[in-house]
Amino acid sequence: MRIPSGVSGFDDLVDGGLPAGRLYVLSGPPGSGKTTFSAQFVTEGIRHDEGCLYVSMHESKADLRADMNGYDFGFDQAIDRDGMHFLDAFSSEGKRFLGSPGESGNRSKLTTRLSGFISSRGIDRVVVDSTMLLDYLLKDGDDSMIPFLTALKRTDATTLLISEMTDPTAYSDEHFLAHGVVFFHNYMENESMTRGIQVIKMRGTDIDTEIHPLSFDADGLHVHPGSAVYR
Ligand SMILES: Nc1ncnc2c1ncn2[C@@H]1O[C@H](COP(=O)(O)OP(=O)(O)O)[C@@H](O)[C@H]1O
Ligand SMILES: [Mg+2]
Repeated sequence: MRIPSGVSGFDDLVDGGLPAGRLYVLSGPPGSGKTTFSAQFVTEGIRHDEGCLYVSMHESKADLRADMNGYDFGFDQAIDRDGMHFLDAFSSEGKRFLGSPGESGNRSKLTTRLSGFISSRGIDRVVVDSTMLLDYLLKDGDDSMIPFLTALKRTDATTLLISEMTDPTAYSDEHFLAHGVVFFHNYMENESMTRGIQVIKMRGTDIDTEIHPLSFDADGLHVHPGSAVYR
């Protein structure tokens, strides 16, 4: 089964939609659109009455709401719906749920809690913003996020894991482990910002790997499958 991403034009690059129940990594530099893409992804889930979980270490719920207020894709209504669970990693609720950095056995506790939450609440779409959170939580304790990511891959939810990345050749574990990888590009060219999106891999899918223009419009991100960006 393929599910709609919620981002206009994107599904055309991946044979009609994201294969459900899998783990996808969104990578790219700051300001390239990863969080906006993810907000559209969960809004689309809510539109289909799915359960959604958004875990953020970068924004509180209020911050994200304010950031997405510049668009009218319906995030403001979606975030208050019953099926939407927002976890701010640095709120007291977030700290209780996610544990503290270096806490012994935190990786397995975190893994158990998150997969338990996904199955008991019927979560269909998950966003983790970002791998910096996993690095932070797991840095002094267990040495690797691989078992955590493997557990996320095995849940029934479709997961977007955001991975900040400024060097597009510096691959990390999550890129190898994920079912799919999407790169966001933004760079200065002729004194203006060129923005693009590129699907690097998607298992089991005939993908379009060109860099396509990505525009930030009033109703959110738009991918333009009919044209390509050349560096
Ligand atoms: N209408 C808009 N409302 C909010 N941000 C916008 C808008 N149009 C363009 N942007 C740009 O979107 C960028 C934020 O994208 P974001 O999804 O947060 O990126 P990332 O998560 O990759 O850092 C901002 O740098 C901002 O300049
Ligand atoms: Mg972001």
